[in-house]
Amino acid sequence: TVLILDFGSQYSHLITRRIREFGVYCELLPCTQKIADLHFIPKGVILSGSPYSVYDVDSPHVDTVVFELGVPVLGICYGLQEMANLMGGKVEACDHREYGHAALTITKHVDHPFINLLFEGLEGDIQVWMSHGDQVTQAPPGFRIIATTRTAPFAAVAHEEKHFFGIQFHPEVTHTVDGGTVLRNFVVGICKCKTSWTMDAFIDTEIQRIRTIVGPVGQVVGAVSGGVDSTVAAKLMHEAIGDRFHAILVDNGVMRLNECASVKKMLGDKMGINIEVVDASALFLGRLAGVTDPERKRKIIGNTFIEVFEAEAAKIDKKTGGGKIEYLLQGTLYPDVIESISFKGPSATIKTHHVSRGASNTNLMSHQNVGGLLEDMKLKLIEPLRELFKDEVRALGTLLGLDDELVWRHPFPGPGIAIRVLGEVTPSQVEIARLADHIYIEEIKRAGYYRQISQAYAALLPVKAVGVMGDARTYEQVIALRAVETKDFMTADVFASAEWFLTLKKISSRIINEVKGVNRVVYDISSKPPATIEWE
Ligand code: XMP
Repeated sequence: TVLILDFGSQYSHLITRRIREFGVYCELLPCTQKIADLHFIPKGVILSGSPYSVYDVDSPHVDTVVFELGVPVLGICYGLQEMANLMGGKVEACDHREYGHAALTITKHVDHPFINLLFEGLEGDIQVWMSHGDQVTQAPPGFRIIATTRTAPFAAVAHEEKHFFGIQFHPEVTHTVDGGTVLRNFVVGICKCKTSWTMDAFIDTEIQRIRTIVGPVGQVVGAVSGGVDSTVAAKLMHEAIGDRFHAILVDNGVMRLNECASVKKMLGDKMGINIEVVDASALFLGRLAGVTDPERKRKIIGNTFIEVFEAEAAKIDKKTGGGKIEYLLQGTLYPDVIESISFKGPSATIKTHHVSRGASNTNLMSHQNVGGLLEDMKLKLIEPLRELFKDEVRALGTLLGLDDELVWRHPFPGPGIAIRVLGEVTPSQVEIARLADHIYIEEIKRAGYYRQISQAYAALLPVKAVGVMGDARTYEQVIALRAVETKDFMTADVFASAEWFLTLKKISSRIINEVKGVNRVVYDISSKPPATIEWE
């Protein structure tokens, strides 16, 4: 394992991603981590970048025990400056903040082959990405320069005996073309890590781990939605403990067309998972009647979900003899874990999404009143995906034999169509939005755009517009189509191209022809921010 200490750079999680991509397991922990408290002995340590300056009074600092572990250390940007500062070098503010591409000239040392290892396989000048306001102006004793740029004389330095390396540029971003090679050289060539972290190995160890935790008779409940995270988690659970895992699918009345039936068919009939479908649509729609405020809709749906899930879990508990259900399965992913352990606490942007905008229904911990469930039934959490990024979950899903259709499914919000029917949610409004969405997604798939688009859906606007059909004037509602491209769903761009526009024209006429009550279709071209992906 490689330990990555996070000083708060926006790129820290990318270091983790890239290293895992070439099969080395690494963990990202906050920079305040006490080395004595680690649950593993790292084979190498990486210190990330940071928005701080090392000489600021409130800047974060590393537990200096990392430098006594006898393992290689790589400082990136702030990480380099932290090392230089602690070891007797000098760090100063640059005259100009450097942000963007730079040419890095590699200096090879014929007499010191070990320090050449970081740039092994690279020669001369390489393109790197810089993003810093401070730089090292004097290297600490014992360090040699291994690369320079026009403005940074200490762009990369190394200490041969101690196996310490520092680089000013960011190898983890794709703009640094050979960044992957540099990181690989560090973890494989210098730290001597094995490249055996694969999803195949993950499946075996995770199944064993689940079996050990749950024991020979323990039972587990978990909510499923048809989304990739909850399905992969459920499949893994089923592989580990078979029928002792009980999946619960709550029909909240605002899911997509035929969703419940198809999830039941896929998880229950095809995968053989023990699944109970609870049709609570009347209860949900009843409570939503007359409600127009988006956050109230979310609250009602979230609370009702917990209530229904809890009642069903209690029923299953009774059926299995009572008191045997010990665990609650959660599809928590690594980004949520990273966010909750960051030394700065949850960041402002993510907080709005997970707390006030509400995370998925299957992620029960995101609901404030889930405490009762955990306490009353004395349930403990089991989170098999908590070490994985989304793309790793997808790879895992494929390995576990899930259909591509499911593995690559767009995310769907817990409050579902309720936040896509703007204004009051009535059964007939839900029907209109649902059918329009179904046509939209069907055509996107037919035209081959589904994988390029990160998320697409149809929303029903609470306004009426004038139109003409045959000889008659119409006065009906408007459907808004949304399609965005995004990496992390925190920022997003509208999906756009000339060919896509032609597909949209076709979709528009299908919706107007086939969905009663709609005579106009518009395409939402706003970016996030300032708009959000959902309309409510
Ligand atoms: P926004 O609208 O905040 O959406 O740009 C970002 C991503 O989050 C999803 N989303 C939700 N997911 N419960 C969920 O489970 C919610 O209340 C919720 N609100 C937004 C949205 O679909 C997009 O993928």
